[in-house]
Amino acid sequence: MKIAISGKGGVGKTTLAGCLARYLADQGQVVLAIDADPDSNLPSAIGVPPERLAEVQPLAQIKELVAERTGAQPGSFGGMFKLNPKVDDIPDTYSIMHKGIKLLTLGTVPLGGGGCLCPEGTLLRVLMKHLMVRPGETVIVDMEAGLEHLARGSTENMNAFVVVVEPGQRSIQTAHQVRRLATDLGVRQVYVVGNKVADPSDRELIEQGVSPMPVLGHIGLLPSVREADKQGVSPYDLDEGLRTQIAAIYQALLQVAA
Ligand SMILES: Nc1ncnc2c1ncn2[C@@H]1O[C@H](COP(=O)(O)OP(=O)(O)O)[C@@H](O)[C@H]1O
Ligand SMILES: [Mg+2]
Repeated sequence: MKIAISGKGGVGKTTLAGCLARYLADQGQVVLAIDADPDSNLPSAIGVPPERLAEVQPLAQIKELVAERTGAQPGSFGGMFKLNPKVDDIPDTYSIMHKGIKLLTLGTVPLGGGGCLCPEGTLLRVLMKHLMVRPGETVIVDMEAGLEHLARGSTENMNAFVVVVEPGQRSIQTAHQVRRLATDLGVRQVYVVGNKVADPSDRELIEQGVSPMPVLGHIGLLPSVREADKQGVSPYDLDEGLRTQIAAIYQALLQVAA
């Protein structure tokens, strides 16, 4: 499955992406986790220890890579560069491995020129397209907040689009915007995961608010998630209850996406 996780800023996209990646790797799946948020923190959510974070190289910021593959310097606009750069070796060469998860960080693409007519934007787009059709690999993409990535087409060929919602109207509104855009782009299924759910009324608020989107499940408002952040570890390693909730969410996804 190729799973994109989106939603308003701060709702818990990265927490869900990291824990789901850990869960699927534990299940024996070959997992590629992609950090597509310029404000990258998926490595920590997966549990990459702080001293290894320096190994994480955001692809768009690797000048030699962008230059070598596209034939143009990153940040240049309007010049000539290859529109079909070679990308198939990038996941193995530029990812780091942790707990059986291959992790790639995309980095920041300059927004000028429409955000995509630059060499690094092109490289990332071609790479994402390639990753979405590689067989035998589960892909989890931690999206940036906002909706630009949808417009950019980097989410084509995803077969599960998950929006994280917290109990509150703002993230519910964002979920509806994501659904509208995703529908326009031909993504058929958009699913919701509730997060920071403290009680049954929170759950109800989310389920009514996001209707008719199917809700895969909920994650509680958990002290362990904050504690994990303080310790620089994955919440997945601290909280068995959280692991159970993640497992249930994945089972629900299998049911609906099958
Ligand atoms: N289930 C939860 N319980 C408690 N705190 C949470 C939970 N999920 C996320 N958080 C906290 O909310 C903040 C944002 O989470 P994060 O996963 O980084 O969101 P996003 O990637 O959507 O911006 C972090 O400080 C995180 O520790
Ligand atoms: Mg995030």
